[in-house]
Amino acid sequence: MTAIQGPSRAANKAQSRSASAADWSLTSWRGKPAQQMPVYPDAQAVAGAEARLRRYPPLVFAGEARKLKGALAKVANGEAFLLQGGDCAESFQDFTANNIRDTFRVLLQMAVVLTYGAGVPVVKVGRMAGQFAKPRSSNVEKVGGVELPSYRGDNVNGFEFTPEARIPDPERMVQAYNQSAATLNLLRAFAQGGYADLHEVNRWNLDFVRTSPASAKYEDLAARLDETLNFMAACGLTSATTPQIAETDFFTSHEALLLQYEEALTRVDSTSGDWYDCSAHMLWIGDRTRQPDGAHVEFLRGVRNPLGFKCGPSLSTDDTLKLIDLLNPSNEPGRIVMIVRMGADKVAEKLPPLVRAVKRSGKSVVWSCDPMHGNTETASNGRKTRHFDNILNEVKAFFAVHRAEGTHPGGVHFEMTGQEVTECIGGSTEITVDKLNERYETQCDPRLNASQALELAFLLAEQLKAERLSVQRARPAA
Ligand code: PEP
Ligand code: CO
Repeated sequence: MTAIQGPSRAANKAQSRSASAADWSLTSWRGKPAQQMPVYPDAQAVAGAEARLRRYPPLVFAGEARKLKGALAKVANGEAFLLQGGDCAESFQDFTANNIRDTFRVLLQMAVVLTYGAGVPVVKVGRMAGQFAKPRSSNVEKVGGVELPSYRGDNVNGFEFTPEARIPDPERMVQAYNQSAATLNLLRAFAQGGYADLHEVNRWNLDFVRTSPASAKYEDLAARLDETLNFMAACGLTSATTPQIAETDFFTSHEALLLQYEEALTRVDSTSGDWYDCSAHMLWIGDRTRQPDGAHVEFLRGVRNPLGFKCGPSLSTDDTLKLIDLLNPSNEPGRIVMIVRMGADKVAEKLPPLVRAVKRSGKSVVWSCDPMHGNTETASNGRKTRHFDNILNEVKAFFAVHRAEGTHPGGVHFEMTGQEVTECIGGSTEITVDKLNERYETQCDPRLNASQALELAFLLAEQLKAERLSVQRARPAA
């Protein structure tokens, strides 16, 4: 149980016990330089929203975050694979049961493809139930000569291009909390209430574009999986005897950018006395806010959830090692996920020095590949897009680096949706620049649509299978 306690007696107890958080307090981030945070016009309104959030129940429990850490420790050790994905930015407007179901469904399908296709257990983590706040390259946005403050995610300001919408409003944090609670409630029901039962693999494909080649391939895999399940049932392994067949673990994550929100949802776990950020199971630090002496690193080093940090092309080996030391001084496996987002043309050059430095230091990390954020470009019609081939090439290059360095390519991190949007170019359904306007619905970065995501999962399964075989070959005979 996570007790709902403020920074009082419990806090002192937590601090004296926690080995990883010397000189840390729930508010110590406030004394550090903070990038990408909104400037609210009404400080009293912010304090009011924070006070309410502090009273609200935690969204996740510390024990669940520890369970994810255990699963990620297996990934770090080369025994499992991490699949993390979801919207670039969740939105208040697109908040529907169908949207949540469809993203969850495609993640399940991808996980089945990876598990069945490559024989590797998959840890499933959604960019869901809290992925609202967005870092921006520019503080302002210009449309037709009009300049307004940039949109920073629905928990900060409005997407609409009007001066009123762009004013940061702290009440949006409360709305984001409520939407996250409802989303998580549905995800838990789907994961544990029968929807994720492996006997349903065929049904997950029903809403799919029937013409999609990935869908046909999936149908074939589902039929083989059905046969396997029948065989297992004949051997006495059914949903009743083996709960893993009927339900699954599904975790949530988001970028811990809006620190007022994260602080308000951070609680002391009464069983361990440690601080956990109970807004999600896993939090990550973005590429723009990973300064070792900055507010985001300061805040996150004090909570015990699994943490990620984005590794863009400007990340030095010095900062990499500094960040790992700050965030994981006791070298706890499963604590750190390095989310590499270099760009397809840079990863072969930029990643090996980081991998070597981490390996040399003896630190345990999960290496994950985000092939989205280094491959964003502007199409000829002005739309922000990404090419499917660049995404795939970055994944392949990431695997190749790890093969050469003898390390485990531990996971992937995708921006994707269960809808058939037209935001990324390419893939076998052949989205072209001309088609981008048909269903361009993202409020931030372009996402893989359901067909593209599934297609990528099949291509990834091939990479993983090859990796598994090469590890087996390299293993000395007993
Ligand atoms: C993101 O994951 O949406 C994001 C902004 O990534 P990055 O920090 O890597 O740019
Ligand atoms: Co993004």
